[in-house]
Amino acid sequence: MAAPESVLQELHELKKTLRYHIHLYHVLDAPEISDVQYDKLFQQLLDIEKTYPDLFDANSPSQRVGGTPLDSFAQITHAMPMLSLENAFGEDDLLAFDKRNRDRLAISEELEFACEPKYDGIAVSLRYEGGSLVQAATRGDGRTGEDITQNVRTIGSVPLVLKGEGFPGVLEVRGEIYMPKKGFEAYNAQALINGDKPFVNPRNAAAGSLRQLDSAVTAKRPLQMCAYSVGVVENGNLPETHSEVLIALAQWGFRLSDERGVVKGVKACIQFFDNLAEKRHRLPFDIDGVVFKVNDFALQKRLGFVARAPRWAIAHKFPAQEEITIVKDVEFQVGRTGAITPVARLEPVFVGGVTVSNATLHNSEEIERLGLCIGDSVSIRRAGDVIPQVVSVIFSKRPSDSQGIVFPDACPVCDSELIQLEDEAVIRCTGGLICAAQQKEAIKHFASRQAMDIDGLGDKIVEQLVDERLIANVADLYQVNVDQLLPLERMGQKSAENLVNAIETSKSTTFARFIYALGIREVGQATAANLAKYFHTINDLAETNVNTLEDIPDIGPIVAKHILDFFAGDANLNLIGGLLSSGVHWPDKTSSSSGNHEPLLGKTYVLTGGLESLSRGEAKDRLQQLGAKVSGSVSSKTSCVVAGPGAGSKLTKAQELGLSVINEDGLVALLKELEP
Ligand code: IVH
Repeated sequence: MAAPESVLQELHELKKTLRYHIHLYHVLDAPEISDVQYDKLFQQLLDIEKTYPDLFDANSPSQRVGGTPLDSFAQITHAMPMLSLENAFGEDDLLAFDKRNRDRLAISEELEFACEPKYDGIAVSLRYEGGSLVQAATRGDGRTGEDITQNVRTIGSVPLVLKGEGFPGVLEVRGEIYMPKKGFEAYNAQALINGDKPFVNPRNAAAGSLRQLDSAVTAKRPLQMCAYSVGVVENGNLPETHSEVLIALAQWGFRLSDERGVVKGVKACIQFFDNLAEKRHRLPFDIDGVVFKVNDFALQKRLGFVARAPRWAIAHKFPAQEEITIVKDVEFQVGRTGAITPVARLEPVFVGGVTVSNATLHNSEEIERLGLCIGDSVSIRRAGDVIPQVVSVIFSKRPSDSQGIVFPDACPVCDSELIQLEDEAVIRCTGGLICAAQQKEAIKHFASRQAMDIDGLGDKIVEQLVDERLIANVADLYQVNVDQLLPLERMGQKSAENLVNAIETSKSTTFARFIYALGIREVGQATAANLAKYFHTINDLAETNVNTLEDIPDIGPIVAKHILDFFAGDANLNLIGGLLSSGVHWPDKTSSSSGNHEPLLGKTYVLTGGLESLSRGEAKDRLQQLGAKVSGSVSSKTSCVVAGPGAGSKLTKAQELGLSVINEDGLVALLKELEP
């Protein structure tokens, strides 16, 4: 059936609208419509395409959900080879790279470099003809790769039709496909629930997802693509520098990393590397270094290539995040809530920039999944502040005297019975407050910066205080005196006095901090803040019921149960009584007007960069007290961004979205104006 003109027009408009929203969502991270509204538009498109099958278009937004499964991937010869990069492992390599290039060009002035992350994913080349995606290929050996067009079409941040105008008739865009960290964690969590094998790291997850013969499977994987260069260009011209080409690519609809820069001179490259290395672990995706490219194409051309890498680019790598070592033993630790965690004691190994000698094994299911024995060689991963993990066992290296891991049948610290609740992977000690391990962890949590913030009460001191039987719970802390502290290891008169003073100072706190400090299971800072807002006094909270609790934002039946269980025990009530009678206090909500004073209700603030006159935690607390939500990421829903020195991508994004941005002075003035 031939479609009438009006339907053709409607189809055209629908595709345009959908493309617009896909770009906002997947490239700019700034959606304008809800998922439900998007789904409605998408359904309208599907309906028209179903009625008029002749209107099939391989680059219609409808094709993003995947197509007919393939039998195998076709081989593709790259019209222009996909090169590799020379590596630099330290500053000297970078300095030598710069000198070599300037000597070859016979110039004395500093070179300009485009700097960008070295994405840790899978390289792809996308060919556009007349602005439409016609082919997507993997790098393969650089000359021939595999045709993964169907799979790539499912990736939201890959434009199927280029946006705007001025693009060449034929354009190959090169970039990296990766799985963002959040998507990777969510995928693995679900895989474990489904009984599927989780991926070892985001890179393998991206590779595995792209290697699917059924593109409908790829469509369900949270993949993203960032563009970093171009290949073949015909029938058109591009700007004369690399950084300008990237901006053109962004205008045609590609996602770029926010972490790009253009700098003059190799010293500035080193600075760029240090900055990115510092924030690497806070980025939403894995990177394994920084790529520096001579920005000017005319100079690139003069420099040319060696073997299969350009002379004008270099990848400065970060220290490896995965290394191999040996598991010498497995011990069982008891956490604050009694959870027993197996921990692998390792032959120390340098990984992710530090020496690691322990790695968490989470629970018995994880040991089973890994198939781990004591004596095994394992691959250890440490990314950022994340606790080191065992990612896999190298079975081919298993020694003949390896030993199986036996889970204890009683608490290794207090010998109490262990229980495993249905639907829970964790095994717990039932000793509660009589278990020294749980006592220590509860006290450490109570004293931590986000809780009672007792300066100087470090883990080692807590452990000694409990081991010496000077304290057994958090209320005992407020009875400790200088003379009792003096015999502890590395404790002088001055530090003992400071600690006693810090304990004293901590008595003056906020209701939210106090609730958080109690260490109720699954009550984090945000939930504690909600509870503090809702209840007037600790007695109100202790006497609450399930219906009241479930009315509070973010509290579901599980958290509600943990809260009720906590207050059901006499031991905990006595503890709270002890704390209050020692003088722990916070502003009384019933007598002050601050209880309902929430002038920033409904507003979302984002803090980025440094602050000097107050800590980030304090700024957050005070904004929340005024009713604001404080979020970690900028979106079109953000009301205001507070940007201090060193603010980076969040500030750029706020500016792109035209959001209100204030500095520290502005924040201080705002707090002064609004706080009662
Ligand atoms: S440019 C001629 N830029 O690194 C230069 N490559 O060894 C060709 N990679 O597998 C590459 N991030 O996928 C370039 N910002 C970036 C990159 C990058 C990651 C990967 C690339 C390739 C390898 C090259």
